[in-house]
Amino acid sequence: MRLVIVGPGRAGTALALAASTAGHRVVAVAGRDPEATSVAASALGADALDISDPMPEADLVVVAVRDDAIGEVASAIATAAAAAGPAAIHLSGAVPVSALAPLAAAGMATGSFHPLQTLPDPARGAARLAGAWVAITAGGALRDRLIELAGSIGMHPFDLDDEHKAVYHAAAAAAANFPLGALVMAESLFSAAGVSFAAARPLVETVVANAFELGPRSSLTGPVARGDAGTVESQIRAVAEYAPSLADDFRTLVVVLARIAGATEIEERWS
Ligand SMILES: NC(=O)c1ccc[n+]([C@@H]2O[C@H](COP(=O)([O-])OP(=O)(O)OC[C@H]3O[C@@H](n4cnc5c(N)ncnc54)[C@H](OP(=O)(O)O)[C@@H]3O)[C@@H](O)[C@H]2O)c1
Repeated sequence: MRLVIVGPGRAGTALALAASTAGHRVVAVAGRDPEATSVAASALGADALDISDPMPEADLVVVAVRDDAIGEVASAIATAAAAAGPAAIHLSGAVPVSALAPLAAAGMATGSFHPLQTLPDPARGAARLAGAWVAITAGGALRDRLIELAGSIGMHPFDLDDEHKAVYHAAAAAAANFPLGALVMAESLFSAAGVSFAAARPLVETVVANAFELGPRSSLTGPVARGDAGTVESQIRAVAEYAPSLADDFRTLVVVLARIAGATEIEERWS
């Protein structure tokens, strides 16, 4: 496929690099910052364009700007994109495909392609796309082409309808971000105990592996899951003594876990 990338940021450039490695051709990169655009374009052997420039012929225009700017950029590029090719996508898991309405009105097939992966920079992102799952919101021939694109990069495609995007994105945030909140807390508590956070790595990695082998609910261990109310109480008192600023958050998470584990006595005691 010939691709035009609009928005040379982390996700757009990561996808472009991965697609290029897989044998697709990135014919142009369009951006509002000339320097960033030309860095990304030269890494891909593509033309560097301004957002308002005409685009070369392409099979797919990828609108890779931040979520809030998708609608505005779609309006700005509508004429050039529709002249360039038949289809356009954005990369958001939260924004509906209707954000590309100006491109649909100009005659393009529209959809979205959301990599369920964290892409911290273009090079790491490109490497992490292989093996990642990707949510495809599109119909007809565009859906088929996006499934092929995903497969060529080594991604696992799945269908997601627009109606479920908000709850899907909440799930992705819960999976990717909520564990980090707990780990930030754990890091502080290990530090209060004089123990390196690095010591927890095998434990944390096993917990994540268990969650995908046994299911997250069945992987719960520890005093809350066992209903060991006395041990939970001594933990809560220790956190209040050694890390008082974390005491409320720790207790809140104990209550959440107790509800999941069905440990009613603990849930009621600390709610
Ligand atoms: N990064 C991830 O982990 C990840 C994962 C999956 C999906 N996504 C999706 O990928 C999309 C892009 O995210 P990102 O993380 O790549 O963001 P990013 O690194 O901030 O890149 C966004 C790009 O869009 C450009 N841009 C922003 N507003 C613009 C505007 N009004 N007009 C023209 N260009 C504009 C930015 O240019 P400037 O530098 O000039 O602002 C930058 O080149 C989002 O829809 C996001 O949800 C991201």
